Amino acid sequence: MIDPFGRMVDYLRVSVTDRCDFRCVYCMSEHMTFLPKKELLTLEELDRLCTTFIDKGVKRLRLTGGEPLVRKNIMHLIEQLSRHLKSGALDELTLTTNGSQLTKYAQQLADNGVKRVNVSLDTLDGDKFKKITRWGALDRVLAGIEAARSAGLHVKINAVALKGVNDMEIVDMMRWAHRDNMDFTLIETMPMGEIDEDRTDQYLPLKQVRSDLEQQFTLNEIAYKTGGPARYVKVEETGGRLGFITPMTHNFCESCNRVRLTCTGTLYMCLGQDDAADLRTPLRKSEGNELVSQAIDEAISRKPKGHDFIIDRATKRPSVSRHMSVTGG
Ligand code: GTP
Ligand code: 5AD
Ligand code: SF4
Repeated sequence: MIDPFGRMVDYLRVSVTDRCDFRCVYCMSEHMTFLPKKELLTLEELDRLCTTFIDKGVKRLRLTGGEPLVRKNIMHLIEQLSRHLKSGALDELTLTTNGSQLTKYAQQLADNGVKRVNVSLDTLDGDKFKKITRWGALDRVLAGIEAARSAGLHVKINAVALKGVNDMEIVDMMRWAHRDNMDFTLIETMPMGEIDEDRTDQYLPLKQVRSDLEQQFTLNEIAYKTGGPARYVKVEETGGRLGFITPMTHNFCESCNRVRLTCTGTLYMCLGQDDAADLRTPLRKSEGNELVSQAIDEAISRKPKGHDFIIDRATKRPSVSRHMSVTGG
């Protein structure tokens, strides 16, 4: 699949549920309305869509949410999808998770060919963790990360950099992650969806964080690439990898290789744009995948050049009204 800007699309992110057992302040408002369960595609339908994408050249597939591991019978879908790893059609099946269910699922993930998981964790302070996630318990996530490592999964920690909230902890978190051989990636907060807090106050440009870190550490650019938008450096003092995801200060859209499928079968061609394609209707119209395949081609032909997130200090309105949890980032 090649888009109008010559970019090959071989990475699919699939949000298997919009629900989550946390309510992170930068992601959701406290009182969220979720989709009624009857709106969701079945796991079989999700498998059909993923399989069509794989047939069309997708090589990396990432399950997201909300929180992917709270979707009922999610392991069934993962087991089904793992056949594409075995056949060699798919290079990688991964997850982005808040870690809360990993003690239960880590071993099964590893048994089904998942090699790495990205775990969202913004602080190592239990009280702060409670404030950020509203509903989460840090110990449970840390136990989940341990379970993932014990099962042989490679873990990347994702932290959204928040001014006045976790900026003072970045060095400690990085050292902690690197000590256990985990990658550590910082993310600039993106203005998506109405939340209760003022994002403009918490926005922290990573350029600033990077130059602060360079006072203490030697950061060397490395060629390491995972398919996602992070740019990695090696931190010579810790020996670990540090990633920067900078949608606000350094747009990486020219190398975009991905599209996003929601749990209702809507395909978003860009995280930061509202244009979408309905795949559910063609999926349900026929038992074969021809109609879906055509709808995907049509959608790829209008993949936009990129996003234009703006932290609007005047109106404080998000650039995109959809919440991050609809597409799982
Ligand atoms: P790997 O590189 O495979 O490890 O994954 P990733 O970093 O792409 O995925 P992950 O789910 O860990 O996402 C980390 C952050 O990057 C999240 O905040 C995502 O919203 C963000 N992200 C991923 N893809 C894009 C993108 O295309 N555009 C923007 N603006 N952000 C993205
Ligand atoms: N801006 C940046 N990243 C976000 N995430 C959730 N909401 C936002 C936001 N507004 C992150 C989560 C997770 C990933 C899927 O997206 O922390 O790591
Ligand atoms: Fe849930 Fe992830 Fe959103 Fe936090 S960032 S509320 S863990 S979907």
